[in-house]
Amino acid sequence: MARKELLKDFHQMGYGGDYNPDQWLDRPDILAEDIRLMKKAHVNLVSVGIFAWSALEKEEGVYTFEWLDSIMDNLYKNGIFVILATPSGARPHWLSEKYPEVLRVEANGVRIQHIARHNHCYTSPIYREKVQNINARLANRYQDHPALVAWHVSNEYCGECHCELCQKEFRVFLQEKYKNLDNLNHAWWSSFWSNTFTSWDQIRSGNNAIHGLALDWKRFVTKQTVSFFQAEIEPLKKITPNIPVTINMMRTFPGLDYMKFKDCIDFASWDNYPQWHTGNDVRTASETALCHDQIRMIKDQPFLMMESTPSLVNWQRYSHIKKPGMNILSSLQAIAHGSDSVMYFQWRKSRGSAEKLHGAVVDHEGSENTRVFKEATTIGKDLIALQKIVGTRTKSQVAIIFDQENRWAFDGAQGFSNEDKGYRETVVNHYYSLWRNGVNIDVIDETCDFSRYSVLSAPLLYLIKPGVSKRIEEFVAQGGTFVATYGLGYVDQNDLCALGGFPLGELRKVTGIWDEEIDTLTQEQHNSALATNDFIKEVSKQGISLNNDYTIKRYCSLIHRESEKCKALMNYGSDFYKGRPCLTVNEYKKGKCYYIAAEIEQDFLDILYHTIITES
Ligand code: GLA
Ligand code: ZN
Repeated sequence: MARKELLKDFHQMGYGGDYNPDQWLDRPDILAEDIRLMKKAHVNLVSVGIFAWSALEKEEGVYTFEWLDSIMDNLYKNGIFVILATPSGARPHWLSEKYPEVLRVEANGVRIQHIARHNHCYTSPIYREKVQNINARLANRYQDHPALVAWHVSNEYCGECHCELCQKEFRVFLQEKYKNLDNLNHAWWSSFWSNTFTSWDQIRSGNNAIHGLALDWKRFVTKQTVSFFQAEIEPLKKITPNIPVTINMMRTFPGLDYMKFKDCIDFASWDNYPQWHTGNDVRTASETALCHDQIRMIKDQPFLMMESTPSLVNWQRYSHIKKPGMNILSSLQAIAHGSDSVMYFQWRKSRGSAEKLHGAVVDHEGSENTRVFKEATTIGKDLIALQKIVGTRTKSQVAIIFDQENRWAFDGAQGFSNEDKGYRETVVNHYYSLWRNGVNIDVIDETCDFSRYSVLSAPLLYLIKPGVSKRIEEFVAQGGTFVATYGLGYVDQNDLCALGGFPLGELRKVTGIWDEEIDTLTQEQHNSALATNDFIKEVSKQGISLNNDYTIKRYCSLIHRESEKCKALMNYGSDFYKGRPCLTVNEYKKGKCYYIAAEIEQDFLDILYHTIITES
């Protein structure tokens, strides 16, 4: 197994979390106690300085690094390594006061006040300059510090800005992409509602009725965030070329296409906050597994779980504490899915402000005698035994596509269920059925290589990027099993509908069907799926007996079988399309393609994926 160690000169299973000594600079006793407690809990890695900008540069150009020097020295002396943060996630007040252009503007044109965090304009040259300045000073000061093993760049990049600087950059992005307005007008179908653009300056973000514009704006937000990130790391890469950089990502975050960070981060990391104990924990575990598998696939290598809570999360609907054992279980889950660390938010509870009641290893009470601290200590000890697997990964033969641009296009479409489109939920459901088979699963997007898998599942793959339908065709032709659903191949990369019938391109012959119409049911309405005799016989060979029927909700596609090798496995039980197929399988060259034409209940998906996995 190839090994890939993520951090510089740090070959352990990372254990620790966000550490904010900057909140306790007037309490040297507490800072000393932190070290004692960290050692007790077997902590070997902490993220420092994430929100410390005002402690580092209280006034413009006045720097105070001495406290950080002694924190870094002390940690290192005690065997604890540091992922040092760049502080751009929250800026000091003086910065917004003196340079209002750094403040974000909302889609309605209103500039947001200096509140909370994660709220700067990604384009502002002044903000970039100020961030580069503080980052360069950090890099210069700590370049040779033996505690430094990685850069934690900013914090949870998110959000968008609609200021004039961003509008201008958006137009540059569009000019590079489309070259001229004719191309843009065609791609955006802007003759609709008289939107034809005759000058670049007429283009503004926020006009979501033009679906092509809305989609390109989301792409731009990712591009601009990547560009901001690249500006952030410029001094880091120059001064500390051997220190890897990462950003901490969020759980299936809809705002950014994280795959676009693939080539500019050195390793991936993410913040894991499932809502345990509020429903079905097995489902929650499956959804969390999906997130790990998705983050792992960004770099296709191990990753760090940068944050998780040792007890409760204080921003979810219910502030449930993790029951005894859950922290161990969910930490081991992360490692099993490829994490080389268990890191917490947060080491010690802050005394005041928004996160004072958030879970932490060290409580306000302050000692090692809490339930949470004791459990954290057990985990720290157990992780030492897992050292050997640091840098290793497993191989998957099954992949599921969860594509962010597809999500934007599908969720942004007017049509289907406008109340509840269900892309994310549908991927989660399909993943669940795969996961229950105990197989390793890669969560990938349309741009990833398919050829290494034997089963490829693509729920609601509505937007097909250039070349993808051909790559799916090759995958099946070489013997792969492709599982598609209703909503497949409606639009191209510009969100323009396919002419000549769905699904578009090669997908038509691979699926062996023409998907003519889709019916959306209300929450109260249902249809049913009835297995054909052949299908009943087929699955009974695997010892499975099917129910008389399975419930269908939300989506029913009306399909035609076009290929002779396309067989109906299930048919609709009611409505005027009763008796027409709602599940087919097509033999195509050396492989197979299943088309699930309706949203059939989870119990059935479990069986279907079980048979597919057993077969392949
Ligand atoms: C996020 C942030 C942290 C903290 C935690 C609380 O993940 O990155 O700074 O706010 O949430 O759960
Ligand atoms: Zn802006």
